[in-house]
Amino acid sequence: MILLLFFTILLSWLFYELYWKRRGYLDGPMPLPIVGNMMPILKTKPGYEAFRQWTKEFGDVFTFWLGQFLTFLSGSKPYLVVTSYKRLKETFILDGDVYADKVFKRRPSPLSRFMFNSLLRLLEGGYLENQWKSCKFQRVRTYKIFMFTYIYRLAEFTVDFYKFFDKQIEEHRSKIDFDSEESLDYAEAYLKEQYKKEAEGDHELFSSKQLSNMCFDLWLAGLSTTHTTMTWIIAYIMNNPDVQKKMHKELDEVIGSDRLISTSDKNNLPYFNAVLNESQRCANIVPLNQIHCVTKDTVINGMTVKKGTGIIPQISTVLLDEKAFPDPYTFNPDRFIDENGKLKKVDELVPFSVGKRQCLGEGLARMELFLFISNFFNRYQVKNLNYFK
Ligand code: HEM
Repeated sequence: MILLLFFTILLSWLFYELYWKRRGYLDGPMPLPIVGNMMPILKTKPGYEAFRQWTKEFGDVFTFWLGQFLTFLSGSKPYLVVTSYKRLKETFILDGDVYADKVFKRRPSPLSRFMFNSLLRLLEGGYLENQWKSCKFQRVRTYKIFMFTYIYRLAEFTVDFYKFFDKQIEEHRSKIDFDSEESLDYAEAYLKEQYKKEAEGDHELFSSKQLSNMCFDLWLAGLSTTHTTMTWIIAYIMNNPDVQKKMHKELDEVIGSDRLISTSDKNNLPYFNAVLNESQRCANIVPLNQIHCVTKDTVINGMTVKKGTGIIPQISTVLLDEKAFPDPYTFNPDRFIDENGKLKKVDELVPFSVGKRQCLGEGLARMELFLFISNFFNRYQVKNLNYFK
């Protein structure tokens, strides 16, 4: 009797997991109970191939079930995945407001607008060019390595991070000229806004705690993405001596060796820019992009999608799109050079994602990559001596 009851429950559960709960969603790979579609992704590390294979089977928008790490007993959850540039344009770009929400929300929107505008102003003012040798973040960077290795000590390190940010902020506050309009960095712009708001009686929105949180967010989102990309760029150039030769030739002809390269040189270095583009495409450092959710009921591929449904702009698949980038796993910067030797714009190059929630630090990151890599290779040649073979 108990055995019969057990099998009835088991079969009902499997029926629910494998068939019933999938009704009303766009077609997609069959999820396993609890883990959803994670297994094929883990098998094909870092996961691109699973998404490329599913695109061939189900088209450029399909349902993907993600197992929940903490609440695994509640089963896997459905997310729509968009895997082609054409479909990303139709949804995240042309209908941006509908796809602007995040499943995990942290920051009220006036503050994210302020963050975006401040970063933009600092870039326009050439802040980075003056500051890129600053080493204040060195100490924090070493913590990162430990953070991921010893996850159980995360809380302790987080406290250290905040102590570090709070100290920097207070030091900064003491040096600010609150009457000047110009700001030298993001924290200064924020503290000036805080000063203004407090004078108007608003002590909440621009709080010091919020500033620490934002510094933490920017640090987390900006540091490992940028240095991972830089490492890949150097690795690709090192392992493609012909590319390095061509790049050095261009640097010698356009820049020479008696000065630093600045952002005003960017447009005169088409091949170098093509190398950066191709490295970012091949490095493809975001194998599964952030989960967004739709802000109202909408229709995708003829199917109604309810407000709040999770949706992923899967940029890794777009970066490996065979139509836009033939032979996608081959490193070939020439694909970004047109017949006149100029840099070619290819819409499918989306390492910073697209739409209303595309990377907030894109301008900053592009500038960092350009300045660091160009100046580095204008001084050095990097060779693979097969040390690790
Ligand atoms: C090469 C370097 C970088 C790459 C490849 C990169 C890539 C990305 C991607 C793919 C997203 C997700 C967009 C989406 O949800 O669709 C993102 C979001 C974000 N990035 Fe970056 N990023 C880089 C550098 C930076 C830097 C330097 C900063 C800041 C200083 C930054 C700040 C952010 C923030 C705050 C978000 C969240 C935006 C939002 O939710 O509205 N990133 N980035």
